[in-house]
Amino acid sequence: MSEVILNKEDLFKMLDSLLREPASFWDGFYKDRAKAIPFFHNAPDENLVSYFEKSLLTPGKVLELGCGPGRNALYLAGSGCIVDAADVSEEALEWAKERARREQKKIHFIHKNIFEMNLKNESYDLIYDSGCFHHLAPHRRLTYVDLLNKWLKPGGHFGLVCFSPGGHLGGSELSDWEVYRSRSLMGGLGYTEEKLKEIFNGFTIMEIRKMKAVEEDERLFGLPGFQTALFRKA
Ligand SMILES: C[S@@+](CC[C@H](N)C(=O)[O-])C[C@H]1O[C@@H](n2cnc3c(N)ncnc32)[C@H](O)[C@@H]1O
Repeated sequence: MSEVILNKEDLFKMLDSLLREPASFWDGFYKDRAKAIPFFHNAPDENLVSYFEKSLLTPGKVLELGCGPGRNALYLAGSGCIVDAADVSEEALEWAKERARREQKKIHFIHKNIFEMNLKNESYDLIYDSGCFHHLAPHRRLTYVDLLNKWLKPGGHFGLVCFSPGGHLGGSELSDWEVYRSRSLMGGLGYTEEKLKEIFNGFTIMEIRKMKAVEEDERLFGLPGFQTALFRKA
């Protein structure tokens, strides 16, 4: 690999190299499926389900970013959506594929880093991300917004679940500069409502709120400490 910075992507790759390499970390993370990790439970996000119940979303073509073992992709496929679901971890996708086979749901899984996907001429009604964005380095927010603009149809939606600052499961309060000084996201960055509005300021806010705790309902995933948002592309 030549270590020359000639353009923005070279610079981003250099910054990536200062931080954790995602594929090997996440493959290791998913090795033990019996771990008590809340999102290992196969239930969709409460906010995602509520968007469909309130008709903020209707079935269409969906891309899920960082789908993990597939709980939201499975829900979306079961709701009549055509689903592409991407993750950098092969272990996660193996698990997701097993679930899809068992539930007889058709999902197109993509084993890729979301910044290296080659989706020629694809466009989506919904791009959904639950828990991937807060694991991305600050410089990647720029390419992330580019990716949304490139792959969302006009009028398409972007749904997000991410850590709030200081949540009990994660949500570090580092400044962006501190991430590179410490060479760590300390388990994932926390985002306030204001920060999300700033980052996604080119989109219209449909709904932005804290995730609801739904511990008593095992058909849904909902815990405190998370921010949820639904945006619409103009
Ligand atoms: C906290 S997990 C959430 C998984 C799933 N969305 C869920 O909520 O059940 C974050 C996921 O993002 C994936 N991920 C992190 N960085 C990624 C990247 N750059 N490209 C693709 N996937 C990534 C990880 O492999 C992991 O499965």
